[in-house]
Amino acid sequence: MEALTLTQPDDWHLHLRDGAALRAVLPHTVRQFARAIIMPNLHPPIRQVSEAAAYRRRILAAVPAGQLFEPLMTLYLTDHTSPAEIFAAQASGFVKAVKYYPAGATTHSELGVTTLDRCNQVFEAMEAVDLPLLLHGEVTDGAVDVFDRERVFIERHLIPLKQRFPGLRMVFEHITTLEAVQYVLSTDLMAATITPQHLLLNRNSLFQGGLRPHAYCLPVLKREHHRQAILQAATAGNPKFFLGTDSAPHSRDRKESACGCAGCYSALHAMELYAEAFESVNALDKLEAFASFYGPDFYHLPRNSGSLTLTKKPWQVPQTLPFPDSELIPLGAGQTLSWQIASPG
Ligand code: DOR
Ligand code: ZN
Repeated sequence: MEALTLTQPDDWHLHLRDGAALRAVLPHTVRQFARAIIMPNLHPPIRQVSEAAAYRRRILAAVPAGQLFEPLMTLYLTDHTSPAEIFAAQASGFVKAVKYYPAGATTHSELGVTTLDRCNQVFEAMEAVDLPLLLHGEVTDGAVDVFDRERVFIERHLIPLKQRFPGLRMVFEHITTLEAVQYVLSTDLMAATITPQHLLLNRNSLFQGGLRPHAYCLPVLKREHHRQAILQAATAGNPKFFLGTDSAPHSRDRKESACGCAGCYSALHAMELYAEAFESVNALDKLEAFASFYGPDFYHLPRNSGSLTLTKKPWQVPQTLPFPDSELIPLGAGQTLSWQIASPG
């Protein structure tokens, strides 16, 4: 039997929700990952260090007995975030970044930023204390085609932002396009996370024999040449690109609806999905650094000391998972994956 043992990985982009939903999904993440960057887009969002502290305690209380997990918290940036909150975030020790959502771009982004310029003082503070800015990089301009929103974000917003704040470390989250890969490669102090769905699927998956709500996330899946560009970036052994699942649980009824929510649920089997993607281009030897080294290096955190073993043993992704008052449909439900987690470290 083939086996692959890695330093225990971390998830650098994760949605855990709260309450019963949090308790339903967290064990899946803890089974594989030692730490995760926790997205703050709750309803209402996590805008203050005190809210992040309370949310962190709720997450820790939901960790299954006997297991270890460290939630790395983020603050949700708004037009009204103050520089003082940034200094408090850095001083807290547990807030590791600030997340930018353009107002109206995605799930619970209503209170996001309307105009980046409003945050200039906050960005100055973040640059001064070296707190990274995590970007949902899409324009919300209704005149821009949905499939072009990431590319246009780079031109309209990211290039000018980087010029104004050259020392601000940024993560371009869940990149989906060749243009994002090229931009990240060309820019200092700029990294990117990559999801399993954007490595494994192109936009045809949204329409395979009918409308496929469980493949719908934001930024939306793109054309095949974009998938190939990000697969190439992820498997190149370049420290600018690292693992971030963007696992985003929504109940089955909210996905299978006339106006379905955006988000793919991959926390169940994230490492198995990434292994599938890396193996497809014979790059399993690059998986460990992508999953376990480049993220902590970027965040100036130690690499993990535990390990995770994957064995080559085909298994079928369940059709459904338990979720409060409903069900959860995992990414690739019913499909066979070749790698399986053997023993958490
Ligand atoms: O597909 C997505 N789901 N994209 C996001 O940006 C947010 C996320 C969520 O929270 O559901
Ligand atoms: Zn996300």
